[in-house]
Amino acid sequence: MLAKALVVTPARRVHGRVRPPGDKSISHRYAMMAAIADGVSTLRGYSTGEDCASTLRCLRGLGVGIDDTGREPVAGADISITGVGIRGLQAPAGVLDAGNSGSTMRMLAGILAAQPFRTTITGDESLRQRPMRRIIGPLERMGARVTAIGERPPLTIEGTVRLVALDFETEVPSAQVKSAVLLAGLHADGVTRVHETLPTRDHTERALQAFGADVMRTGGSVSIAGGQRLHAGALVVPGDLSSAVFWMVAAAALPGSEVTIEQVGLNPTRIGVLDILRRFGASVDVEEDARADAGEPMGTIVVRHHTLLDIHVAPYEIPGVIDELPALAALATHGGGLSVTGAGELRVKESDRISALAEGFRCMGADIEEQPDGFQVRATRQLRGGEVDAHNDHRLAMAFAVAALGASGPTTIVGADAAAVSYPEFFSVLESLRA
Ligand code: S3P
Repeated sequence: MLAKALVVTPARRVHGRVRPPGDKSISHRYAMMAAIADGVSTLRGYSTGEDCASTLRCLRGLGVGIDDTGREPVAGADISITGVGIRGLQAPAGVLDAGNSGSTMRMLAGILAAQPFRTTITGDESLRQRPMRRIIGPLERMGARVTAIGERPPLTIEGTVRLVALDFETEVPSAQVKSAVLLAGLHADGVTRVHETLPTRDHTERALQAFGADVMRTGGSVSIAGGQRLHAGALVVPGDLSSAVFWMVAAAALPGSEVTIEQVGLNPTRIGVLDILRRFGASVDVEEDARADAGEPMGTIVVRHHTLLDIHVAPYEIPGVIDELPALAALATHGGGLSVTGAGELRVKESDRISALAEGFRCMGADIEEQPDGFQVRATRQLRGGEVDAHNDHRLAMAFAVAALGASGPTTIVGADAAAVSYPEFFSVLESLRA
C-alpha cells in the first residue's frame, strides 16, 4: 500500500479547545479486563485509534461479544463488552492480528498464557520487528510455552490453566511487560509480584482494582493473588495526554498561542511532560476534576506560549515521558533546544524513533544530532520545511506536523495517515486550531 502524503503549511499561532481521543493505554486495558470479567461492561470514550480497534478484533477472535457501533470519532459514545469470565475465552479459529499495536500483543500474551489452548498472534511489518523476549521470559517461567521467530512476532502461545506465580523484576522499565505478568498472575496459583526500578504507567493496577481485583502496591512493587474474578463495570476513558501533547507543543511553540485540553487524563505516572513543558518556558495550568473515574484522574490543561529555553531530559525521567519525546523534539525545533539521554527504548518503538526523528528533522533543516540512547536538538536556525518520511509511525507523523508549523515553507509528510493508529482526527483538529 502506498503511504499517503499530506502537506502541512506554517502557522502564525494556534488557538482553541480540544477534547482528545480516549486514552490508548487505558482503552486497551479496559477492553481486555472487560472481556474476562463477569457481566457486561460499558466503556465511554474508548479510543478511536486503530490500535484499540486491533485489541477489539483480537478479543472477538477469542469469542468475546463486543458492540462498538457507538465508537465514533471523539463522540465519547459507549462500547459494550460482554465478559466471558476468567476461564471463558475460546480458542481462536485462526491467527490473531494485533496490527501495529505492541500493547495489544504484549498485554494479551499475559492473558493467553493462562488459556488451555494455543494462540498465534501476529502484527504488521513494524510490530513483527519488535522485541518480545521481555515477555517471553517471564511467561515461560510461569509455565506457558511461547515461541517466536528470533524473539520477534508472530508469537505462538501455548497456555496452561496451571500457571504458577512469579516474583519478577523488570529488566527494562516497561508498563507492557509489567501488565503482561500481572494479567498472567491474575490466573496463576499463588501471589505474583512485579518489581520495577523506575516507575512506569500504572493503568493496569488501577484498572484491575476498578474491575474489583485486590492489588497490593508497596514502594516499587505490585502484587496480585491469582484466582480472583473480575466484575464488569461502567467506566469512562479519559482523554489521551499523549495525543493532546501535540497541541500543547504547538501552543508552547507559537507566539500568541493558547490551547485548552478538556477531559484529559492526569494520571501522575503520565504527566511528566507537563513539568518538562514548564522547564521549556511554557505556561501550563492544570485543573483536576473533583471526581476521578475508576481511579483515573482527569481534568483540563491550558498551555500558552512563552520564550523557549534550552533543556535536558535525564534518564530517570524517560519512562514517564517515553511517548512524548517525539513531540518534545518537535518543540525544540521551534527554539530553545533539547538534549535527551537514557532513551534507548525509543529505538524499538513503532519505528527506530531516534534515527527516524533525526532523519526527518534534518530534512526539514534542523540541527539535530543522533546518539545511541538519545538525541540533541540545537535551535540554531528556523526550519525551512521539506519532505519527510513518517516511517509508518503515528507519533512521528504528528511530531513532524507540529514542527512544520514553525517552518518558513511547507512540509510534505509521507505516511501521514499513520496518525490514525492513535489519533484519526489529528489533521482535521490541526486545521481547526490555526488562528
Ligand atoms: C504502553 C507502555 C509504553 C508505551 C506504549 C504504551 C502501555 O511501552 O511506549 O506506547 O500502554 O503500557 P513500554 O511498556 O514498552 O515501555
